[in-house]
Amino acid sequence: MKIRVFDTPDEAGVYVAAIAEQVVSGCPQSVLGLATGSTPIPFYRALVRLVQCGLNVHEVTTVNLDEYVGLPPDHPQSYRYFMEHHLFRHIPIDVDKIHIPYGTAADLDAECARYDQVVADYPADLQILGIGLNGHIGFNEPSAFLDTKTHVVELTKKTILHNSDAFGDPALVPTHAITMGLQGILQARQIVMMAFGEEKSQVVAQALQGEVRTDLPASILHLHHDVTWVLDRAAARMLPLHLGDTEA
Ligand code: F6R
Repeated sequence: MKIRVFDTPDEAGVYVAAIAEQVVSGCPQSVLGLATGSTPIPFYRALVRLVQCGLNVHEVTTVNLDEYVGLPPDHPQSYRYFMEHHLFRHIPIDVDKIHIPYGTAADLDAECARYDQVVADYPADLQILGIGLNGHIGFNEPSAFLDTKTHVVELTKKTILHNSDAFGDPALVPTHAITMGLQGILQARQIVMMAFGEEKSQVVAQALQGEVRTDLPASILHLHHDVTWVLDRAAARMLPLHLGDTEA
């Protein structure tokens, strides 16, 4: 487990984009596991700049973590739309190589099974993650049991509230989402977890404590052999000194 602490999310985004460049340069057919939300936006900005500077992503496959149930791909708050807006429309990527669950699938169980096949076919060379205020990764919410497979999840009140900014009203946030399960996340060759801002400092410190807990899904990353936590100073504020100093 590595921890890197930057002054700003923008600097952190450049660092993560450089990691992605290394992966894609080493293997042009790489699979990038991608996340949404505010956290990865500086990374996408930096990645777009690298592509504009010559990084070739023509053969890259992308597999996203999750999508809201009930939102069609062209809904401005859907994660498919988010990805178009922040990344896909700016880079020459093959649309057939983009994978995101369909939130409006008529049969959600069948959609979960279809997505599990995608996840099995395209294990990520690099998985990008953000962390929820409650410790979720993807939309694997805290629970007594954690799902290994793609599943439909009821979002917690905390998640709905946190995500309501984009919707303008918590009542408009979908109550359910489809999310990749933990097996799909943990099968990645390399994982980068990003977290920025004071509000994430407590959950980051808890997740890095060393215990693996189902009520803190991000703590499961302790079981993976290649995880880098990429933080800004505010998110790293509550880390014990021995973690923040020696690794950062
Ligand atoms: C979204 C996802 C979520 C977010 C998390 C943090 O694809 O995987 O786990 O990473 O909810 O969201 P932000 O970045 O908005 O704080």
